[in-house]
Amino acid sequence: MNIDVNLGARSYPIIIQNNLLENLDEYIKNEVFVVTNTTVNRLYGKYLKKYAKKMVVIKDGEKYKNISTFEYIANQLLAAKIERKDTVVALGGGVVGDIVGYVASSVLRGVNFVQIPTTLLAQVDSSVGGKVAVNTKYGKNLLGAFYQPKCVLIDPNVLQTLPERQIKTGLAEVVKYAFIEKTACDTFDESFTFYDFLSTKDYRQNYENIIARSCQIKADVVSADEHENNLRAILNLGHTLCHALENLTNYKITHGEGVSIGLKFAFDLSLKLGLVGSEYHANAISLLKTLGLKTEIPRGMKADKIIQLMKSDKKVVSGEVNFVLPCGKYDVTRKVLQDELLIKEILP
Ligand SMILES: NC(=O)c1ccc[n+]([C@@H]2O[C@H](COP(=O)([O-])OP(=O)(O)OC[C@H]3O[C@@H](n4cnc5c(N)ncnc54)[C@H](O)[C@@H]3O)[C@@H](O)[C@H]2O)c1
Ligand SMILES: [Zn+2]
Repeated sequence: MNIDVNLGARSYPIIIQNNLLENLDEYIKNEVFVVTNTTVNRLYGKYLKKYAKKMVVIKDGEKYKNISTFEYIANQLLAAKIERKDTVVALGGGVVGDIVGYVASSVLRGVNFVQIPTTLLAQVDSSVGGKVAVNTKYGKNLLGAFYQPKCVLIDPNVLQTLPERQIKTGLAEVVKYAFIEKTACDTFDESFTFYDFLSTKDYRQNYENIIARSCQIKADVVSADEHENNLRAILNLGHTLCHALENLTNYKITHGEGVSIGLKFAFDLSLKLGLVGSEYHANAISLLKTLGLKTEIPRGMKADKIIQLMKSDKKVVSGEVNFVLPCGKYDVTRKVLQDELLIKEILP
Protein backbone atom coordinates (compact mmCIF):
# COMPACT_ATOMS: atom_id res chain seq x y z
CA MET A 1 0.00 0.00 0.00
CA ASN A 2 1.30 3.44 -0.89
CA ILE A 3 0.33 6.78 0.65
CA ASP A 4 1.63 10.09 -0.67
CA VAL A 5 2.53 13.07 1.43
CA ASN A 6 1.90 15.95 -0.99
CA LEU A 7 4.32 18.79 -0.40
CA GLY A 8 5.14 19.99 -3.91
CA ALA A 9 8.77 19.33 -4.78
CA ARG A 10 9.31 17.72 -1.38
CA SER A 11 6.49 15.16 -1.73
CA TYR A 12 7.30 11.62 -0.70
CA PRO A 13 5.72 8.17 -0.56
CA ILE A 14 4.97 6.04 2.50
CA ILE A 15 5.25 2.41 1.48
CA ILE A 16 3.51 -0.12 3.71
CA GLN A 17 4.13 -3.78 3.02
CA ASN A 18 4.49 -6.94 5.07
CA ASN A 19 8.00 -8.42 4.73
CA LEU A 20 9.30 -5.21 3.23
CA LEU A 21 12.56 -5.60 5.17
CA GLU A 22 13.25 -8.76 3.21
CA ASN A 23 12.68 -6.94 -0.08
CA LEU A 24 14.74 -3.80 0.37
CA ASP A 25 16.49 -4.28 -3.00
CA GLU A 26 13.44 -2.64 -4.56
CA TYR A 27 13.94 0.55 -2.59
CA ILE A 28 17.62 0.91 -1.75
CA LYS A 29 19.73 1.22 -4.88
CA ASN A 30 22.92 2.78 -3.53
CA GLU A 31 25.02 2.39 -0.41
CA VAL A 32 23.48 4.19 2.57
CA PHE A 33 24.40 5.24 6.09
CA VAL A 34 22.24 3.47 8.65
CA VAL A 35 21.54 4.63 12.19
CA THR A 36 19.70 2.41 14.66
CA ASN A 37 19.76 1.53 18.36
CA THR A 38 21.11 -1.55 20.17
CA THR A 39 17.71 -3.27 20.52
CA VAL A 40 16.54 -2.76 16.95
CA ASN A 41 20.00 -3.58 15.60
CA ARG A 42 19.88 -6.95 17.35
CA LEU A 43 16.47 -7.71 15.84
CA TYR A 44 16.58 -6.13 12.38
CA GLY A 45 20.06 -4.75 11.72
CA LYS A 46 20.83 -7.77 9.55
CA TYR A 47 18.39 -6.62 6.87
CA LEU A 48 20.22 -3.33 6.43
CA LYS A 49 23.81 -4.49 6.75
CA LYS A 50 24.38 -5.33 3.12
CA TYR A 51 23.35 -1.82 2.02
CA ALA A 52 25.31 0.00 4.71
CA LYS A 53 28.49 1.92 4.07
CA LYS A 54 28.39 2.54 7.81
CA MET A 55 26.11 1.27 10.61
CA VAL A 56 25.90 3.65 13.55
CA VAL A 57 24.33 2.13 16.68
CA ILE A 58 23.17 4.35 19.55
CA LYS A 59 21.97 3.37 23.02
CA ASP A 60 18.30 2.57 23.51
CA GLY A 61 16.15 5.07 25.37
CA GLU A 62 14.47 8.47 25.36
CA LYS A 63 17.22 9.78 27.63
CA TYR A 64 19.72 9.43 24.79
CA LYS A 65 17.65 11.67 22.51
CA ASN A 66 19.94 14.57 23.28
CA ILE A 67 22.59 16.79 21.78
CA SER A 68 25.48 14.48 22.85
CA THR A 69 24.02 11.61 20.84
CA PHE A 70 23.38 14.05 17.99
CA GLU A 71 27.08 14.94 18.03
CA TYR A 72 28.10 11.29 18.24
CA ILE A 73 26.01 10.36 15.17
CA ALA A 74 27.19 13.40 13.20
CA ASN A 75 30.83 12.57 13.95
CA GLN A 76 30.37 8.95 12.91
CA LEU A 77 28.85 10.03 9.59
CA LEU A 78 31.54 12.64 8.94
CA ALA A 79 34.32 10.20 9.85
CA ALA A 80 32.86 7.79 7.28
CA LYS A 81 33.06 10.63 4.71
CA ILE A 82 29.38 11.18 4.13
CA GLU A 83 28.64 13.42 1.13
CA ARG A 84 25.74 15.72 0.35
CA LYS A 85 24.16 13.28 -2.14
CA ASP A 86 24.24 10.42 0.39
CA THR A 87 21.28 8.99 2.29
CA VAL A 88 20.92 8.37 6.01
CA VAL A 89 18.43 5.68 7.01
CA ALA A 90 16.81 5.79 10.46
CA LEU A 91 15.89 2.26 11.55
CA GLY A 92 13.95 2.25 14.82
CA GLY A 93 11.20 3.86 16.88
CA GLY A 94 10.38 7.53 17.31
CA VAL A 95 13.52 8.26 19.30
CA VAL A 96 15.82 7.05 16.52
CA GLY A 97 13.68 8.70 13.81
CA ASP A 98 13.57 12.08 15.55
CA ILE A 99 17.28 12.32 16.34
CA VAL A 100 18.51 10.89 13.05
CA GLY A 101 16.21 13.20 11.10
CA TYR A 102 17.65 16.17 12.96
CA VAL A 103 21.20 15.03 12.23
CA ALA A 104 20.28 14.50 8.56
CA SER A 105 18.88 18.04 8.42
CA SER A 106 22.17 19.49 9.69
CA VAL A 107 25.07 17.39 8.46
CA LEU A 108 26.55 19.14 5.40
CA ARG A 109 23.47 21.39 5.61
CA GLY A 110 21.20 18.49 4.81
CA VAL A 111 21.60 15.00 3.38
CA ASN A 112 18.87 12.64 2.15
CA PHE A 113 16.87 10.98 4.86
CA VAL A 114 14.81 7.76 4.83
CA GLN A 115 12.70 6.48 7.72
CA ILE A 116 12.19 2.79 8.48
CA PRO A 117 9.99 3.03 11.59
CA THR A 118 9.76 -0.08 13.76
CA THR A 119 7.27 0.83 16.52
CA LEU A 120 3.55 1.29 15.90
CA LEU A 121 3.85 4.87 17.20
CA ALA A 122 6.62 5.63 14.73
CA GLN A 123 4.79 3.90 11.86
CA VAL A 124 1.57 5.87 12.35
CA ASP A 125 2.88 9.13 13.70
CA SER A 126 6.48 10.20 14.26
CA SER A 127 7.97 9.03 10.93
CA VAL A 128 5.41 11.04 8.95
CA GLY A 129 5.32 14.81 8.76
CA GLY A 130 8.92 15.92 9.08
CA LYS A 131 9.16 17.03 12.70
CA VAL A 132 12.63 16.08 13.90
CA ALA A 133 14.19 17.01 17.24
CA VAL A 134 16.20 16.28 20.35
CA ASN A 135 15.34 16.97 24.00
CA THR A 136 17.10 19.54 26.18
CA LYS A 137 17.17 20.10 29.94
CA TYR A 138 14.46 22.72 29.38
CA GLY A 139 12.04 20.21 27.90
CA LYS A 140 11.26 17.70 25.18
CA ASN A 141 11.84 18.35 21.48
CA LEU A 142 13.03 21.92 22.03
CA LEU A 143 15.85 21.75 19.48
CA GLY A 144 14.68 20.61 16.10
CA ALA A 145 13.56 21.31 12.59
CA PHE A 146 11.00 20.49 9.95
CA TYR A 147 12.85 18.13 7.66
CA GLN A 148 10.93 15.77 5.43
CA PRO A 149 12.24 12.30 4.56
CA LYS A 150 12.63 11.15 0.94
CA CYS A 151 10.44 8.17 1.77
CA VAL A 152 9.06 6.14 4.66
CA LEU A 153 9.34 2.35 4.46
CA ILE A 154 7.02 0.44 6.78
CA ASP A 155 7.08 -3.30 7.46
CA PRO A 156 4.16 -4.12 9.81
CA ASN A 157 5.71 -7.53 10.54
CA VAL A 158 8.28 -5.94 12.84
CA LEU A 159 5.43 -5.28 15.29
CA GLN A 160 5.54 -9.00 16.15
CA THR A 161 8.51 -8.34 18.41
CA LEU A 162 7.19 -5.09 19.88
CA PRO A 163 6.14 -5.33 23.56
CA GLU A 164 2.39 -5.03 24.20
CA ARG A 165 2.77 -1.76 26.12
CA GLN A 166 4.44 -0.20 23.06
CA ILE A 167 1.66 -1.50 20.78
CA LYS A 168 -0.87 0.22 23.05
CA THR A 169 1.05 3.48 22.95
CA GLY A 170 0.80 3.50 19.15
CA LEU A 171 -2.83 2.46 19.27
CA ALA A 172 -3.74 5.60 21.25
CA GLU A 173 -2.53 7.73 18.32
CA VAL A 174 -4.40 5.44 15.88
CA VAL A 175 -7.71 5.96 17.66
CA LYS A 176 -6.99 9.71 17.86
CA TYR A 177 -7.02 9.73 14.04
CA ALA A 178 -10.49 8.15 14.08
CA PHE A 179 -11.73 11.01 16.30
CA ILE A 180 -10.39 13.73 13.95
CA GLU A 181 -10.95 12.07 10.58
CA LYS A 182 -13.72 14.38 9.33
CA THR A 183 -11.83 17.58 10.16
CA ALA A 184 -8.54 16.20 8.91
CA CYS A 185 -9.36 14.54 5.67
CA ASP A 186 -10.20 15.49 2.14
CA THR A 187 -10.95 11.82 1.63
CA PHE A 188 -13.50 11.52 4.46
CA ASP A 189 -16.33 9.14 3.64
CA GLU A 190 -19.22 9.07 6.11
CA SER A 191 -20.25 5.59 4.98
CA PHE A 192 -16.87 4.03 5.76
CA THR A 193 -15.22 5.75 8.68
CA PHE A 194 -12.00 4.80 10.41
CA TYR A 195 -13.99 4.95 13.64
CA ASP A 196 -16.35 2.20 12.45
CA PHE A 197 -13.42 0.19 11.15
CA LEU A 198 -11.70 0.27 14.54
CA SER A 199 -14.98 -0.50 16.32
CA THR A 200 -15.75 -3.59 14.28
CA LYS A 201 -12.48 -5.14 13.11
CA ASP A 202 -9.74 -6.86 15.10
CA TYR A 203 -6.83 -4.49 14.67
CA ARG A 204 -4.31 -7.30 15.19
CA GLN A 205 -5.42 -8.87 11.93
CA ASN A 206 -5.27 -5.54 10.15
CA TYR A 207 -2.08 -3.73 11.03
CA GLU A 208 -1.43 -2.87 7.39
CA ASN A 209 -4.86 -1.25 7.11
CA ILE A 210 -4.75 0.70 10.35
CA ILE A 211 -1.24 1.96 9.59
CA ALA A 212 -2.27 3.01 6.08
CA ARG A 213 -5.40 4.85 7.22
CA SER A 214 -3.52 6.56 10.06
CA CYS A 215 -0.75 7.67 7.70
CA GLN A 216 -3.32 8.92 5.17
CA ILE A 217 -5.02 11.07 7.79
CA LYS A 218 -1.73 12.49 9.07
CA ALA A 219 -0.51 13.02 5.48
CA ASP A 220 -3.66 15.00 4.62
CA VAL A 221 -3.16 17.26 7.63
CA VAL A 222 0.56 17.76 7.02
CA SER A 223 0.00 18.43 3.32
CA ALA A 224 -2.50 21.16 4.21
CA ASP A 225 -0.42 22.73 6.99
CA GLU A 226 3.18 21.53 7.15
CA HIS A 227 4.42 24.01 9.76
CA GLU A 228 1.49 23.87 12.19
CA ASN A 229 0.15 27.34 11.56
CA ASN A 230 -3.40 26.11 11.80
CA LEU A 231 -4.94 22.72 10.93
CA ARG A 232 -1.95 20.62 12.07
CA ALA A 233 -2.76 21.62 15.68
CA ILE A 234 -5.72 19.17 15.61
CA LEU A 235 -3.16 16.35 15.86
CA ASN A 236 -2.76 17.51 19.47
CA LEU A 237 -6.18 16.11 20.45
CA GLY A 238 -5.64 14.53 23.88
CA HIS A 239 -2.13 15.95 24.15
CA THR A 240 -2.57 18.96 26.47
CA LEU A 241 -3.41 16.71 29.40
CA CYS A 242 -0.96 14.07 28.15
CA HIS A 243 2.00 16.46 28.38
CA ALA A 244 1.00 17.45 31.93
CA LEU A 245 0.72 13.78 33.00
CA GLU A 246 4.05 12.87 31.36
CA ASN A 247 5.63 15.70 33.31
CA LEU A 248 3.93 14.82 36.63
CA THR A 249 4.86 11.13 36.41
CA ASN A 250 8.37 11.97 35.24
CA TYR A 251 7.65 10.02 32.03
CA LYS A 252 6.72 6.83 33.93
CA ILE A 253 3.58 6.61 31.80
CA THR A 254 4.15 6.13 28.07
CA HIS A 255 3.17 8.85 25.63
CA GLY A 256 0.26 6.77 24.36
CA GLU A 257 -1.05 6.15 27.86
CA GLY A 258 -1.06 9.92 28.36
CA VAL A 259 -2.81 10.38 25.01
CA SER A 260 -5.61 7.89 25.69
CA ILE A 261 -6.26 9.42 29.13
CA GLY A 262 -6.19 12.82 27.42
CA LEU A 263 -8.68 11.64 24.79
CA LYS A 264 -11.17 10.56 27.45
CA PHE A 265 -10.67 13.90 29.23
CA ALA A 266 -11.28 15.82 25.98
CA PHE A 267 -14.53 13.91 25.45
CA ASP A 268 -15.60 14.63 29.05
CA LEU A 269 -14.92 18.31 28.52
CA SER A 270 -16.83 18.32 25.25
CA LEU A 271 -19.81 16.64 26.88
CA LYS A 272 -19.78 19.25 29.65
CA LEU A 273 -19.64 22.06 27.08
CA GLY A 274 -22.43 20.49 25.03
CA LEU A 275 -20.14 19.97 22.03
CA VAL A 276 -20.93 16.25 21.79
CA GLY A 277 -24.00 14.25 22.76
CA SER A 278 -23.97 11.57 25.46
CA GLU A 279 -24.31 8.75 22.95
CA TYR A 280 -21.16 9.59 20.95
CA HIS A 281 -19.34 10.33 24.22
CA ALA A 282 -20.19 6.91 25.68
CA ASN A 283 -19.41 5.17 22.43
CA ALA A 284 -16.01 6.82 22.05
CA ILE A 285 -14.98 5.93 25.58
CA SER A 286 -16.14 2.39 25.11
CA LEU A 287 -13.95 2.21 21.97
CA LEU A 288 -10.92 3.33 24.00
CA LYS A 289 -11.69 0.65 26.59
CA THR A 290 -12.31 -2.08 24.02
CA LEU A 291 -8.87 -1.38 22.57
CA GLY A 292 -7.45 -1.88 26.07
CA LEU A 293 -6.32 1.73 26.46
CA LYS A 294 -6.03 3.57 29.75
CA THR A 295 -8.65 6.24 30.36
CA GLU A 296 -8.24 7.24 34.02
CA ILE A 297 -5.85 9.82 35.42
CA PRO A 298 -3.36 8.04 37.73
CA ARG A 299 -4.14 8.32 41.45
CA GLY A 300 -2.61 11.05 43.53
CA MET A 301 -2.53 13.72 40.82
CA LYS A 302 -3.70 17.12 42.05
CA ALA A 303 -6.07 19.10 39.81
CA ASP A 304 -4.30 22.42 40.54
CA LYS A 305 -0.94 21.04 39.51
CA ILE A 306 -2.38 19.52 36.33
CA ILE A 307 -4.01 22.82 35.38
CA GLN A 308 -0.80 24.74 36.09
CA LEU A 309 1.15 22.38 33.83
CA MET A 310 -1.46 22.55 31.08
CA LYS A 311 -1.13 26.33 31.16
CA SER A 312 2.61 26.11 30.64
CA ASP A 313 2.35 23.66 27.71
CA LYS A 314 4.48 24.92 24.85
CA LYS A 315 1.42 25.01 22.60
CA VAL A 316 -0.34 27.41 24.97
CA VAL A 317 -1.50 30.82 23.73
CA SER A 318 -0.86 33.60 26.28
CA GLY A 319 -1.41 31.61 29.47
CA GLU A 320 -4.83 30.22 28.56
CA VAL A 321 -5.42 26.51 28.24
CA ASN A 322 -5.75 25.73 24.58
CA PHE A 323 -7.66 22.53 23.81
CA VAL A 324 -8.58 20.53 20.77
CA LEU A 325 -12.04 19.17 21.52
CA PRO A 326 -14.44 16.77 19.81
CA CYS A 327 -17.43 18.72 18.46
CA GLY A 328 -19.44 16.02 16.72
CA LYS A 329 -18.72 12.70 15.14
CA TYR A 330 -15.08 12.48 13.97
CA ASP A 331 -14.97 16.26 14.08
CA VAL A 332 -12.87 18.49 16.33
CA THR A 333 -12.53 22.17 17.07
CA ARG A 334 -9.95 24.32 18.85
CA LYS A 335 -11.04 26.09 22.01
CA VAL A 336 -9.34 28.39 24.47
CA LEU A 337 -10.75 27.74 27.92
CA GLN A 338 -10.61 30.43 30.59
CA ASP A 339 -13.00 28.67 32.95
CA GLU A 340 -10.74 26.69 35.27
CA LEU A 341 -13.67 25.64 37.44
CA LEU A 342 -15.15 23.73 34.56
CA ILE A 343 -11.86 21.91 33.95
CA LYS A 344 -11.60 21.18 37.69
CA GLU A 345 -14.99 19.50 37.74
CA ILE A 346 -13.66 16.84 35.41
CA LEU A 347 -10.26 16.35 37.02
CA PRO A 348 -9.86 14.12 40.11
N1 LIG B 1 8.31 13.64 15.14
C1 LIG B 1 7.06 13.52 15.51
O1 LIG B 1 6.14 14.01 14.87
C2 LIG B 1 6.77 12.71 16.74
C3 LIG B 1 5.45 12.33 17.03
C4 LIG B 1 5.23 11.53 18.13
C5 LIG B 1 6.28 11.13 18.94
N2 LIG B 1 7.56 11.53 18.64
C6 LIG B 1 8.70 11.11 19.45
O2 LIG B 1 8.80 9.70 19.36
C7 LIG B 1 9.45 9.21 20.52
C8 LIG B 1 8.75 7.96 21.01
O3 LIG B 1 8.81 6.98 20.01
P1 LIG B 1 8.51 5.44 20.31
O4 LIG B 1 7.24 5.33 21.08
O5 LIG B 1 8.63 4.72 19.04
O6 LIG B 1 9.64 5.05 21.37
P2 LIG B 1 11.10 4.42 21.18
O7 LIG B 1 11.73 4.86 19.95
O8 LIG B 1 11.81 4.66 22.46
O9 LIG B 1 10.78 2.85 21.05
C9 LIG B 1 10.20 2.17 22.13
C10 LIG B 1 10.99 0.92 22.49
O10 LIG B 1 10.76 -0.11 21.53
C11 LIG B 1 12.00 -0.64 21.05
N3 LIG B 1 11.71 -1.13 19.70
C12 LIG B 1 11.60 -0.41 18.55
N4 LIG B 1 11.16 -1.20 17.56
C13 LIG B 1 11.02 -2.45 18.07
C14 LIG B 1 10.58 -3.68 17.53
N5 LIG B 1 10.14 -3.78 16.27
N6 LIG B 1 10.56 -4.77 18.34
C15 LIG B 1 10.94 -4.66 19.64
N7 LIG B 1 11.35 -3.52 20.22
C16 LIG B 1 11.37 -2.42 19.43
C17 LIG B 1 12.93 0.52 21.15
O11 LIG B 1 14.27 0.09 21.16
C18 LIG B 1 12.50 1.12 22.50
O12 LIG B 1 13.06 0.40 23.56
C19 LIG B 1 9.48 10.35 21.52
O13 LIG B 1 10.78 10.86 21.62
C20 LIG B 1 8.54 11.38 20.91
O14 LIG B 1 8.92 12.72 21.23
C21 LIG B 1 7.81 12.30 17.56
ZN1 LIG C 1 1.41 12.05 20.31
